[in-house]
Amino acid sequence: MINRAIELVRRSVRPLVFTGAGMSRESGMRTFRGDDGLWKEYRPEQLSSIAGLRSDPGVVWDWYKMRLMTGEGVEPHAGYHALTCLQNEKGELPVITQNVDGLHKLAGQTDVLEIHGSMRTASCLEKCGFSTGLTPELLHGAPTPPVCPSCGAVLRPDIVLFGEPLPPKIISRSYELAEDCDLIIVVGTSVQVWPAAGIPFAALENGAIVIEINPAQTELPQSESVISLRRKAGEILPLLAGLKGKV
Ligand code: APR
Repeated sequence: MINRAIELVRRSVRPLVFTGAGMSRESGMRTFRGDDGLWKEYRPEQLSSIAGLRSDPGVVWDWYKMRLMTGEGVEPHAGYHALTCLQNEKGELPVITQNVDGLHKLAGQTDVLEIHGSMRTASCLEKCGFSTGLTPELLHGAPTPPVCPSCGAVLRPDIVLFGEPLPPKIISRSYELAEDCDLIIVVGTSVQVWPAAGIPFAALENGAIVIEINPAQTELPQSESVISLRRKAGEILPLLAGLKGKV
């Protein structure tokens, strides 16, 4: 199966990548679902929703500070570097990610669509125009919740919170890419949170081959067009990129 996947990647003309939290698991970031998923311990509607941010900004910022501190110094693993090599070799390999940790860009990838935003920057909750990088210095020193120096409102991490729409331009380009690709590599996602979760299905419906990298079963169908590699991202991506043992 893996050799068929390697050959299909090699021959693909309009490949696409779609990733979720499992893509960063081997870099030390936790996933949301599954055995040690964050949502087993915390309530997303309280911590990752616009309603929660407005009603209790201190609690939400404590959560994001904890996540940012966890992400501090986190490096992309071999699977990320393999994707960067593949992107350089193919010349064009758009990467759609649900992750907000910024690791695809940190690994040197371009054309990265952060469909759920990024926790590397923050902006004014009341949209006065202020925005800033979310650096450890800012976080360590800032009061909780950090406030906008321009208008005094609460700041917000630039991620898509539950209850908010996804960035329209990014979601429509993501679906255009899914409808045009001939192969999509789906890595580390439970394929449960729509509309992002619809991307692999849109690719399938348009005749693309799906290569899924995930140790666990997901919502993706078993079919001739779906190759499910029940392995970890850091193990398989260097093989798919033809970098066996070289990354
Ligand atoms: N390699 C590949 N896949 C892995 C690895 C690994 N090393 N470790 C875990 N996984 C898989 C798990 O089996 C699981 O199916 O990664 C998947 C992670 O699923 P989720 O935790 O649901 O993450 P994701 O699919 O990205 O969630 C989508 O939900 O809460 C929201 O906004 C949040 O963007 C997130 C969205």
